[in-house]
Amino acid sequence: MNQDSINKAAKLLLEGNVVAFPTETVYGLGAIATNDTAIAKIYEVKQRPNFNPLIVHIESLSKAQQLGVLSNDALKLAAAFWPGPLTIVTNKQKNCDIALLATAGLSTIALRVPAHPVAQNLLHTVGKPLAAPSANPSGLLSPTTSDHVKTCLGDKISFILEGAPAEIGIESSIIDCTEDTPQLLRPGFITIDQIKSIIPNFSDTNQNHSIKAPGALKHHYAPQLPIRLNAQAAIKANEAFIAFGPNIPKGYVKVINLSLAGDLIEAASKLFSALHQLDQPQYSGIAVATIPNEGIGFAINDRLKRAAATQN
Ligand code: TXA
Ligand code: MG
Repeated sequence: MNQDSINKAAKLLLEGNVVAFPTETVYGLGAIATNDTAIAKIYEVKQRPNFNPLIVHIESLSKAQQLGVLSNDALKLAAAFWPGPLTIVTNKQKNCDIALLATAGLSTIALRVPAHPVAQNLLHTVGKPLAAPSANPSGLLSPTTSDHVKTCLGDKISFILEGAPAEIGIESSIIDCTEDTPQLLRPGFITIDQIKSIIPNFSDTNQNHSIKAPGALKHHYAPQLPIRLNAQAAIKANEAFIAFGPNIPKGYVKVINLSLAGDLIEAASKLFSALHQLDQPQYSGIAVATIPNEGIGFAINDRLKRAAATQN
């Protein structure tokens, strides 16, 4: 392990860049989990067509407990499998400062303490949680060596941290511990039998739903207010407006601009906080400007369409 490269990776991350790093399961594409713009870059680099929530990596159980509320079952799983290829979904702590874009606006958070020595050292050196999906373009195979990452993403990211290959080659198992009966959300390296030996009260009936349709997560954040897309001027009293670019149509009581400069990465980084801020009973609805359907704009529009479709 080369401490100079780890220091370099840490510096780049703290400056808001995305960096690939090895974990024991697959290579991750990391960004500081509290930095909305850096998280937006992950989606842009991966060309993910939607904002499914990301796994947040921390170096220890105590760091995990600063971000999430671990149930008794979650604590048992953590004691048995951390550090290692297990991800636990918990409710967020009230003061959790993770970027809303990293958790797709949910009140829950997926947490994992990786075992790979380079990942551990990087997390320790950075001193902040790292959100990291697998380091491949959306739809392609997850990479297990730095060469794989170089081939598929080399020209798009600041730095690839070398390290022993990801030995497991399969993503972590994901268990939702927010309900009384913990549920398997994604099968992974830790088997159902291994999980049942630690928490017998466990349901694996829901498996696969999150990998097959990551955007269709049961707990997707849905605003309460009606959402009106491709809006121009206000059409009723007390409407709030989410703008993009310099043109603000008339008649809105409150406007949040996702990006005055028309920058889609900036817009993605502010999307969930804008929805949360405007989803208040004093407004009659949220109107949204047309967002260009290109690059990360696809994911923004996917999210907005879902928000509009879950109404009524
Ligand atoms: O092995 C792994 O888990 C790799 C390495 C890099 O650690 N990471 C990985 O991360 O696969 P990612 O971000 O691709 O996994 C995201 C999946 C989502 O598709 C979703 O299924 C689940 O994690 N997830 C994340 N946050 C969630 C939440 N709050 N509730 C439910 N599921 C969540
Ligand atoms: Mg993946």
